[in-house]
Amino acid sequence: MADLTTQFLELPVKNPLMNASGVWCSVASQLEALAESAAGAMVSKSCTLHPRDGNPEPRYRVFGHGGPKENKVCSINSMGLPNEGFAYYLRYAQRHDHENKPLFVSISGLTLDDNLTMVDSLKDAVTPAILEVNLSCPNVPGKSQIGYDFDAMDTLLAEVSSGYQRPFGVKLPPYFDMAHFDEAAEILNRYPLVAFVTCINSIGNALVIDLESETTLIKPKDGFGGLGGDYVLPTALANVNAFYRRCSEKTIIGCGGVKSGTEAFLHLLAGATLVQIGTSLYEEGPGIFPRVLDELAAIMDDKGYKTIADFRGKLKTIA
Ligand code: DHB
Repeated sequence: MADLTTQFLELPVKNPLMNASGVWCSVASQLEALAESAAGAMVSKSCTLHPRDGNPEPRYRVFGHGGPKENKVCSINSMGLPNEGFAYYLRYAQRHDHENKPLFVSISGLTLDDNLTMVDSLKDAVTPAILEVNLSCPNVPGKSQIGYDFDAMDTLLAEVSSGYQRPFGVKLPPYFDMAHFDEAAEILNRYPLVAFVTCINSIGNALVIDLESETTLIKPKDGFGGLGGDYVLPTALANVNAFYRRCSEKTIIGCGGVKSGTEAFLHLLAGATLVQIGTSLYEEGPGIFPRVLDELAAIMDDKGYKTIADFRGKLKTIA
């Protein structure tokens, strides 16, 4: 039977699966369910310095285009950062059993100062929780994504590096242009404390329309929201592999379009060390983890791979 254990920044991890931030991780009961689930690691909801209600509902919808036969699982959301505030997730981190599984704390401050304040208190709290700075929330009206403003990204990474003085990671939006992969990677590589990169956040500002009612699926931002699920898999794999190739000193976390062992395998093959599940976790709940782990192990067994290191990052291209 395939060995699914792995390592993340030298920490032993039982398996490569975890939740995508935002899904099943906003309140303590959900975080506890993830802690008890088969997931190898977990991340808390991206938080702001102060609690927020987020955008009006409906603000998250699942849809499957192409009719029932296609069986696609897609989502659109414009949550608007509803969260309990940084102190809440810090309190959870202080009582989390980090030996059981690593916990990432995701922060998404509304300003650089808010991010630096949260970074400071996380540093002072001396918890083993791993910091992830979200550079890619697409859903706060009037705020653009830091990951799409390379000067702002450079400044933020400089400030967080000098404030935190410990390894941390960033959650990136998807990029769609080779020049943007190059430029983003070049900036990330200036900061050795950026130990990991999570690719990708949702494909921002998509519009899904219901044919019959001629209405948007979600209410905020006139229906514009971040796309997740099946539609984003190829973009996610491209971003994972693009940063895996360009950031040889950094670890990649893959996120986007994972619903079975197949997509988890593809993310690992493209270079991811951990693999997150968002839309499908929202649909199935934490019981999805043992299913996807069994499917991943079966694929590895079929192919004769005994460990993840046997194939991670070993994507073949056509000569
Ligand atoms: C939200 C959405 C995101 O994609 C993200 O990275 C952070 C927050 C949200 O709308 O709550």
